[in-house]
Parts: sequence; C-alpha cells; structure tokens
Amino acid sequence: MCGIFAYLNYLTPKSRQEVLDLLVTGLKRLEYRGYDSTGVAIDSLDNKDIIMVKRTGKVKVLEDAIQEHFSGDDYSEPVLNHVGIAHTRWATHGVPCERNSHPQRSDDGNSFVVVHNGIITNYNDVKTFLAKKGYEFESDTDTEVFAKLVHHLWKKHPNYSFRELVEQAIQQVEGAFAIAVKSKHFPGECVASRRSSPLLVAIKTRTRLAGDHIPILYGKDDKKQSSDQDADSVLPRSDSTAEFMPLEEKEVEYFFASDASAVIEHTNRVIYLEDDDVAAVRDGTLSIHRLKKSLDDPHAREITTLKMEIQQIMKGNYDYFMQKEIFEQPESVVNTMRGRVRFDGTTIVLGGIKDYIPEIKRCRRLMLIGCGTSYHSAVATRQLLEELTELPVMVELASDFLDRNTPIFRDDVCFFISQSGETADTLMALRYCKQRGALIVGITNTVGSSICRESHCGVHINAGPEIGVASTKAYTSQFISLVMFALVMSEDRLSLQQRRLEILQALSKLADQIREVLKLDSKVQELAKDLYQHKSLLIMGRGYNFATCLEGALKVKELTYMHSEGIMAGELKHGPLALVDDSMPVLMIVLRDPVYVKCMNALQQVTSRKGCPVIICEEGDEETKAFSSRHLEIPRTVDCLQGILTVIPMQLLSYHIAVLRGCDVDCPRNLAKSVTVE
Ligand code: M6R
Repeated sequence: MCGIFAYLNYLTPKSRQEVLDLLVTGLKRLEYRGYDSTGVAIDSLDNKDIIMVKRTGKVKVLEDAIQEHFSGDDYSEPVLNHVGIAHTRWATHGVPCERNSHPQRSDDGNSFVVVHNGIITNYNDVKTFLAKKGYEFESDTDTEVFAKLVHHLWKKHPNYSFRELVEQAIQQVEGAFAIAVKSKHFPGECVASRRSSPLLVAIKTRTRLAGDHIPILYGKDDKKQSSDQDADSVLPRSDSTAEFMPLEEKEVEYFFASDASAVIEHTNRVIYLEDDDVAAVRDGTLSIHRLKKSLDDPHAREITTLKMEIQQIMKGNYDYFMQKEIFEQPESVVNTMRGRVRFDGTTIVLGGIKDYIPEIKRCRRLMLIGCGTSYHSAVATRQLLEELTELPVMVELASDFLDRNTPIFRDDVCFFISQSGETADTLMALRYCKQRGALIVGITNTVGSSICRESHCGVHINAGPEIGVASTKAYTSQFISLVMFALVMSEDRLSLQQRRLEILQALSKLADQIREVLKLDSKVQELAKDLYQHKSLLIMGRGYNFATCLEGALKVKELTYMHSEGIMAGELKHGPLALVDDSMPVLMIVLRDPVYVKCMNALQQVTSRKGCPVIICEEGDEETKAFSSRHLEIPRTVDCLQGILTVIPMQLLSYHIAVLRGCDVDCPRNLAKSVTVE
C-alpha cells in the first residue's frame, strides 16, 4: 500500500533530468502498490530549495507534469551528489488530491520533505502538540505531522544530525510506517526508516562492496556533538559514542524502495530493513542504526543478492501483468514444486519446514490464516489437509480472527499465507499467535518480507513476482504448497500411500493440463461478451471447488466492479436460489468427483427455475453438458487438484470482462496490491 522510491547518487554524476527519470521509472514499478496520486521532490537548480511536483492520478500524469515543469539545459547539468524522493499513494488519511499527495513538507520553505507508507496512529496527538507550537497544517494526511515534527526537533536541536532528528521523530510516532526523508538543510543526505511496512536499501557501486553486510550501530555517529538536551524532547539523546566507518564507497548510488521490483534494473544488492532500523546516507556512506540495543538483534544487516530477473517484472508481449501472470501458471506451478517433489518416487522435501515436521505432527490443530485470495487457498486445501494429516484444520480470515481474540495454544501450528508477506492483518495475526507460543509457518511469495522473517519456518511458493493487483499465479502456487505440505505430513502413513501416489501423479501432469485450460481463452472471451453488460454473476459449486467459487467471485468483483457471489451449492435452497431466474447470470462447476450427484441436483434446481448456467465440467462429460449450451471443458485430474484447473477459466473470465468494461485490469479502483494497513 503506497510505494516509496528514493534515489541518492554520490560521486556518480547524474543530471536532475536523469534523477527524475529514475524516480518516475521507480514509481511505475511500484504503481501496483497504490495509484491515487503521486509526487517527487528534487533539489532546485541553486541547491537552496526543494522542488516538488505532485499530481492526482497515476504515474503517467506525474510524468507529463514533470516534463512540463522541468525543461531546459540546466536540468541536464550533472550533479555529483543529490537526493530525490518519490511516492505513489493509496489514500488512507485524506482524499486523493495534490494537497494530500506525498512528499509532504514541514514548512513553506520545504525544509524537510517526507514520503510515507502506512498510518501514524497517534497523529492527532502529535498534531495537537505541534499546533500549539504554531504549526499550521495544509493537508489532511498523517504524514505532514511527521515532516513538521522533524522540523520542530531541528529547531530545538540545531546541532543534531539529520539521522538523529529522524530517529527522535520516529520514537514519538506510533503505528505502521515506512518513511524516507530529504532536507534542504542536509543536502545530499537521505534518512529512511520502517516499522511494520516494508522498505529496502539497494546499493549500486562500480566496484564490488568490501563486505556482504552492514554493521548495526547504536547511538550517535556524529563527530559534532552537542549537549543540548531539551525539555520538549521526549527521549534523551543517546549517549552511546560508537565510532563507525561501515560502508565507504567512492562512487555509489543508493535506492530506497518499498520492494525489490523497483530496483532490480539497477542493482541486485539489497538490504531489507528491519522494524525500527534507521538507514542514513551521508557523504556517500550508508549506516544503519538502532537506538536501543536488544539481545536478539543481529550485529549486522546482510546484503542480499536478488535472484529476480528484470524480465519477470516486465509485461513482455502481454497487454497486462495479470494476463501475463495467468499465462505463466504452467511454469509457476512447476517452480513451486521444483527441487521439492520427486516424481520418480513418493518423497517430497520442503526444506524450509523439514526440521519442524515432528513438532507439527504432534500439534493440537492446524490453523490456516490469510486474507482475500490467500485465504481462499486455505479453503481450497483444507479438505485434503484434514484427510492427509488427520488433524483438525481451521481456516481463518486474518481480520476476523483478530476481532474474535481467538484462543491459541502453545501446541497449535499456525500457517500464515500471504503473497506479499506484508499484509497487515495477516502479520498482526501472526504476532498474536507467536506471542501465545504457537509454531508459526509462513507461506509467502516474497523473500525477505515481514511474514517470512517473523515466521519460525516456512515455504516460499516461488511463483515469481506478481505485479497485477489481482492475485492469480500466487493462488495456484499457494494451493500447491499446501498440497505438498499435506503430502509431507502423510509420508509415513501406509494407509494413505495409494492416495498420495494418485496426487503425485496428478501433480506431474498439472503443468500440461494448465496449458490445455489456457487454450480455452478465446472461448472464455466469447462468454465474457455475453456477460459483461450484466450487473451480477453467481458462481456455484461445492466440495473441492467451493474455493474456486469464492476466488472467482473475488476476481470478478475486484476487476470488473460487477457484483459477484461465490455460492456453496449445498446452500442454494437455503436462500440463494431465490436470486435465480431466466435473466440472472449463473456459472456452475460440476465435476466428476464424490459430490457430483449433489452438484447435479443443484444444476437441476437452477435449470428448473429457468436459469441458464455456464457449466465448467470435465472433458467429454456429455451428460452434464446436456444441461446447457454454454460450457467450458477442463481435463480430468484428481479431485483435490481440480480447484487449480477450475480457477483458471475464472481468472480469464474476470480478465476479459474487465477489458470489455474498460476497467484498468492491473490497477482496479480503490485497491492496492499490498495492504499494509489494518
Ligand atoms: O499479499 P497477500 O496475499 O497477503 O494479500 C491478501 C489479499 O489482499 C489479496 O489476496 C487480495 O485479495 C487480492 N487482490 C485478490 O486478488
């Protein structure tokens, strides 16, 4: 939710024009995180001021405004040391408009400008405090409060370093945030920090860095010391005097970004910041600080080498990321299984959790917790997990789970499923369960994400970067990860070997079968033409395919803004049947599995109310097809994997309806890819 991008060059000449291009490209990569409004800040030509350009709408609007605003030769003059910060917003406090866009500033003179993700929950208290000090506010944002707080601290402590000012400020705000700050009083410096909202620093040097980690520093780094301790200051200035020389480079560029997709085209060397880290660059030197030392703090932050390829975050020949990601599924499901499933035997190794399997086998129950699509992957695999683990399995929406203060025990094993690994509700639920002593297993797609780092163990789903806001390939990979877990749990159960074999064989055919399903694309497009002008679409199924109904309906809602409902076919006669008539669009999933007869009953109930459903059925199933002229046939697979094949036509259908309705497929209105606020 919201994207931060900042760029600092040191002894690497870059013109302001080049800096702006870098900022805009960075924002485009992060646009999926929020796209209500955007903004950038760079130094003025005389270096005495900061210039900001902000616009309501998407990055393209900002790009055009920048072109208009900055022209002329002066902007192509190279500068040796410069900081630019940029932001793409998903509004939380204050409607999307220029006034509320970031960067937010501290004062008329643009002394400090801030880009921020997340929510400062005590912003009202801080605002009241600052108002009493004479500050006037020009936006409705919580971010502006932070910029003004830094300014207030700077006036009180003129000898503090930039980093110390930001450090003081972050200790006085509560909530979840990631910030990057620029100041005209500290030219060429940038300070950034995070708490429960992702932020990384990427490093680009001509020569390879001396080490692969940056030591953590506690306390102040400044040669210039001051003794001013202010009554207003909530926190004492640290008295630690660590001298440091962590990472000195002659020519260096730093990027601060909400995620790796924004930096991969520049460098693959990144440091994922931890909560309450303060990263500061001064004179080209990066240092990472923590004010208070805690026992479990590592002494250094590792520089991670990203494995991501630039092509993975480009659209290639596709019109939209979502379309590309749907069509990547034959490969992404294989990547999820790669190195883990041995198709020539019956063994499956999940390296990230293998040492915990004995403990998991002894647990009281399994809890699967997530939001949106990730939650649906839990619904999709629950039945198989119950069957192969013989444990009680609870599936929970993270937000509801927290609302209920659900009892959690030390012998519970809690799975947190999240594509981004940053979803606030899921992360809060994780911390809630961890505090109560449960074993925490993360199922995520994002290496280095908060959920990854805070889990005891986990499975990385390896689906590759998912950029479209609508989750597609992450769903099928989460699904497979949970199936693999069920198979691992049943490895030594003799009575289950036949079943396991059947599933393993089906997994080996899955990629080819997905390719077959994707061939339905043009047929699905034709169906979309029938449906796109309707107001509603009911999607019905049961058993292993109920999750597809929920997930299909979510896709239709978020992409097309049509009403859509996933209906458990067994519930039809308990209410939803009243919706059915000859004009209500209905889609039904009727496959040859243990609930086939029940699904056929539901189909008959619908057709006898003059409903004319689209049917998803198995290839060559003439009996089922006879119920409707509109059907999509999918290849036969084992019951517990059907959901992977049935969800793909739903992804395609929602995609085509969205295109026909003129909706922005990759950036649906009001949504963002990563929901880092509760
Ligand atoms: O990153 P996560 O998997 O934790 O995200 C959870 C939901 O916000 C997400 O799945 C959302 O429902 C998707 N936009 C649906 O397509």
